[in-house]
Amino acid sequence: MEWSFVAVILAVALVCPRASSIGANWGTQASHPLPPDIVVRMLRENGIQKVKLFDAEYDTLRALGKSRIEVMVGIPNEMLSTLASSHKAAEKWVSKNVSTHINTDNVNIRYVAVGNEPFLSTYNGSYLNTTFPAMRNIQIALIKAGLHNQVKVTCPLNADVYDSSTTLPSGGDFRADIRDLMITIVKFLVENGGPFTVNIYPFISLYNDANFPVDYAFFDGVSQPVSDGGTFYYNVFDANYDTLVHALEKNGFGNMPIIVGEIGWPTDGDRNANVEYARKFNQGFMAHIAGGRGTPRRPGPIDAYLFSLIDEDAKSVQPGYFERHWGIFTFDGLPNYALNLGTTNTGALIQAKGVRYLQRKWCVMKPNVRLDNPQVGPSVSYACSLGDCTSLGVGTSCGDLDGKENISYAFNSYYQINDQLDTACKFPNISEVTKTDPSTGTCRFPIMIEPYYGGAAHVQVFFLSLVMAAAVTMISIL
Ligand SMILES: *[C@@H]1O[C@H](CO)[C@@H](O)[C@H](O)[C@H]1NC(C)=O
Ligand SMILES: *[C@@H]1O[C@H](CO)[C@@H](O)[C@H](O)[C@H]1NC(C)=O
Ligand SMILES: *[C@@H]1O[C@H](CO)[C@@H](O)[C@H](O)[C@H]1NC(C)=O
Ligand SMILES: *[C@@H]1O[C@H](CO)[C@@H](O)[C@H](O)[C@H]1NC(C)=O
Ligand SMILES: *[C@@H]1O[C@H](CO)[C@@H](O)[C@H](O)[C@H]1NC(C)=O
Repeated sequence: MEWSFVAVILAVALVCPRASSIGANWGTQASHPLPPDIVVRMLRENGIQKVKLFDAEYDTLRALGKSRIEVMVGIPNEMLSTLASSHKAAEKWVSKNVSTHINTDNVNIRYVAVGNEPFLSTYNGSYLNTTFPAMRNIQIALIKAGLHNQVKVTCPLNADVYDSSTTLPSGGDFRADIRDLMITIVKFLVENGGPFTVNIYPFISLYNDANFPVDYAFFDGVSQPVSDGGTFYYNVFDANYDTLVHALEKNGFGNMPIIVGEIGWPTDGDRNANVEYARKFNQGFMAHIAGGRGTPRRPGPIDAYLFSLIDEDAKSVQPGYFERHWGIFTFDGLPNYALNLGTTNTGALIQAKGVRYLQRKWCVMKPNVRLDNPQVGPSVSYACSLGDCTSLGVGTSCGDLDGKENISYAFNSYYQINDQLDTACKFPNISEVTKTDPSTGTCRFPIMIEPYYGGAAHVQVFFLSLVMAAAVTMISIL
């Protein structure tokens, strides 16, 4: 019996060589985040073995306990100055947000991401003085807690921390204004066994530059590859990654491990953000890293986290409307498109289970109201300012709606985000609730999911389990 069991395991291990494992970024800037337990089940069913978080939310980490999923917990930029100036604060952070979860919930925490792209030029240098001291204090706190062998400090940086004097990868070096700081950080990472974490975004290259060659953003090959002294580049990902490799080599850190902290493509909110391109990019990326070919300058496996797991309707749209649409899953855990992660035998994303929706009803514009009704303009502005209208606009999923449908979309978004409150569909005499789904073609009029009350729910579950335990005790006594 035992031997045949072992034989089965061996056979499975031989037939299915461990596919290169892919991670995912799990952000929670949503009006209605999915309950963490549902997300963890979804991660497991899709064979996603690593997650990267942007904070250390208690319920999220608890839900990840015992899953064996590798976790990178995050420290938001706003906390950097406190952690930089106080050893005590860093110790408290590690104790509360790392030690507790490892020791009591069995969470497989492997990295602490100190800050998130803190040197982005849009931050005007706000975090230049605090990022490195915060990393150092967190490292000291991890050592004190005895966790430094298991948990490594890193800092996810945008690819704009390096550039190339020649525009070719071989000209790569750290950005002149932060070069010394970058070298200090890299040295520190090497000393403590932490990886260099970089976020690479071919979509942004295309978004920012109308002349950027579209094919070069993807992985299907280009007719005119870029030659870098006889090394040929067929996609911007390889070129960008190798620019970093050259920057590291040039400064004496050629063996530094690299993690791609974020990579992905949005599905909506811009003419280049759609399901077709997102699928093409992510599927192409998966194929590109499968088999561990790596890049021309750094052959071998690539360690990467897709950006992102789930759409987030409360993210700032300052970078662009696409910002709320990076998910491979919708806000309610449906696959945004067919993507084969190479981890499940179905080869397609598996939707979240147990999602609870509000009622099947929508808020729309009353049929007999005219478009030039003076209430329309201010109502739509109001609805869009508090709802989410990022799927309206040229080239987006709801870009083909007519004027009335467009207005209905805005009303419905506001209504759903407000949990279908009656008062949220009272745009003066111009709106009404309907039970007929107004969705058309690619445009989905969502029904919101039930709000998740983090703390309260877990208190309820706690009491429920007490009651259950009592019941079990009684049964066994009887
Ligand atoms: C733990 O992390 C959470 C979420 O990021 C944060 O709000 C909290 O302040 C942290 N706890 C400590 C003691 O620093
Ligand atoms: C950075 O500076 C610009 C221009 O001075 C300003 O508009 C912006 O608000 C600043 N951003 C931050 C994060 O301080
Ligand atoms: C960082 O430190 C430098 C030198 O001490 C100082 O000039 C600068 O104002 C500081 N920047 C911030 C954002 O605190
Ligand atoms: C629909 O709404 C968007 C955003 O409010 C606007 O840009 C677009 O022109 C509207 N389309 C129509 C047909 O009214
Ligand atoms: C709504 O319609 C009613 C009845 O037609 C009218 O009395 C009322 O003034 C209207 N309200 C607004 C805000 O237009």
